[in-house]
Order: sequence, then C-alpha cells, then structure tokens
Amino acid sequence: MLTIKNISFRYDIELSFLFKDLSFEASDGDIVSISGKSGSGKTTLLNILCGVIPKIIHGELDGKVFIKDQDISKLTLPQTAPCISLLMQEPDQQLFFPTVEQELAFAPENLKVPKEKIEETISSVLLELNIESLRFEETAFLSFGQKKLVTFASILTLSPDIFLLDEPSAGLSKKYIEKISSIIKKLSESGKIIFIADHNKDLLSMANKKIVLDKIS
Ligand SMILES: Nc1ncnc2c1ncn2[C@@H]1O[C@H](COP(=O)(O)OP(=O)(O)OP(=O)(O)O)[C@@H](O)[C@H]1O
Ligand SMILES: [Mg+2]
Repeated sequence: MLTIKNISFRYDIELSFLFKDLSFEASDGDIVSISGKSGSGKTTLLNILCGVIPKIIHGELDGKVFIKDQDISKLTLPQTAPCISLLMQEPDQQLFFPTVEQELAFAPENLKVPKEKIEETISSVLLELNIESLRFEETAFLSFGQKKLVTFASILTLSPDIFLLDEPSAGLSKKYIEKISSIIKKLSESGKIIFIADHNKDLLSMANKKIVLDKIS
C-alpha cells in the first residue's frame, strides 16, 4: 500500500505550487493513471513518490508519503529502491553501462543475487518484452523507444512492489505498447501497484484509479 498525505510542493518559494494538499491511497494491485498537461507536474509527483524529491532534487515539500505505513522520508534511497522503482521519462538519465546485458545485471548484482539467477532473470525479462535481440547491443546506439524498453526491463529485474512509469509508451510502436500493457496487467494481477504518467489513451484506460493534475496558478 502507498499513501500520500497532504502533499504540497513547489520547486522554489518564488515559484507557484504544483500541488497543494494532495492526498491519495493506492492498494496492492491498483493501476493509477497520472494525467495532466505538459508541465502540470506528473514527473515531479513520481519523483516525490520515490523520494528523489527532496533527497536529490530539492524543493519546498510538505506532507508525507508512506509505503506500507513506513514514512519514506525516514528511509534512504538505497532502502526504498528495492520496493519502489522509477522508469524515468528520459532513459539516458537511467542508462549507465555500455551494453544492455551489463545494464540489466547491475541492480541484481548489487542485491547479491547469485550469478546463475541473474542470467535467468535477464533472459526472462528480455523474452517477456520481446527484446532478446538487444541483449548484447551497446545502449548508446539504441533508439529512444529501445532505451525505454531496456530501462523497463531493468526495473522488471528488481521486481519491486511499486512501479512508477513515466511515459512508458514514449517512442514505442503499437505492438510494443500492447506488450507493455499486458505486462502492466500481469503485474497488477500479481498485487503490484503501478503508477502510469502517459499520454497514450489505451494505457491510461487500464487504470482503476486516477490522479488528474491541473496547474495551480
Ligand atoms: N528541477 C526543477 N526546478 C525547477 N522547476 C522545475 C524542475 N523540474 C521541473 N520543473 C518545472 O515544474 C513544472 C512541472 O514539471 P514536470 O516535469 O513535473 O511536468 P510534467 O507534467 O511531467 O510535464 P511533461 O508532460 O512535459 O513531462 C514545469 O513547469 C517544469 O518546468
Ligand atoms: Mg514529465
């Protein structure tokens, strides 16, 4: 379960609030859409949910985020990371290794998962996303859509309880949007919570809960 309690946020005291007193609750299995115009704060809200704001990106934040009754402001990012994972809007900010395989191995290696199990996990997420052919490719030469799929694969290797997906359909063909829709559906059926900030109507229509952001002036 994830609970947002009375969140208000602005990047700077001289700027206007993006949210004021926003409260929300997501239970296991919920798919939550976050919609709103460009600049309404979708990415900002996802960064607050995983603690990147205010731990890495600063601003004036009031209110609290709880994951299973645990106040995330009391946890470090390495403590929350295995439980809540963010698919970033810009995949270049999330890709650090020369090849796709190295990228996908990084998180499970950090968590001391045995080598054979890592091999197995990488094979199965690549198969699930239908991108096995990218396994030995250099990440720098992938298209934007391929980079989004690889970053999605990397968070699938972690199997967190909560997925925060920032524009997961960006750069993808219809076939791949259908693929990620079916993965999101399966994740929800297995009890994961999924937040989706996107413009794609088919993806947004999968949600059973909605957050609509309107700019506060
Ligand atoms: N680090 C920052 N410092 C100051 N202002 C910021 C920062 N990051 C974003 N903003 C501003 O905050 C507002 C919300 O940005 P955000 O990226 O959260 O919107 P969004 O809804 O995700 O937009 P998009 O649909 O274009 O991705 C925008 O006006 C943006 O310029
Ligand atoms: Mg955004």
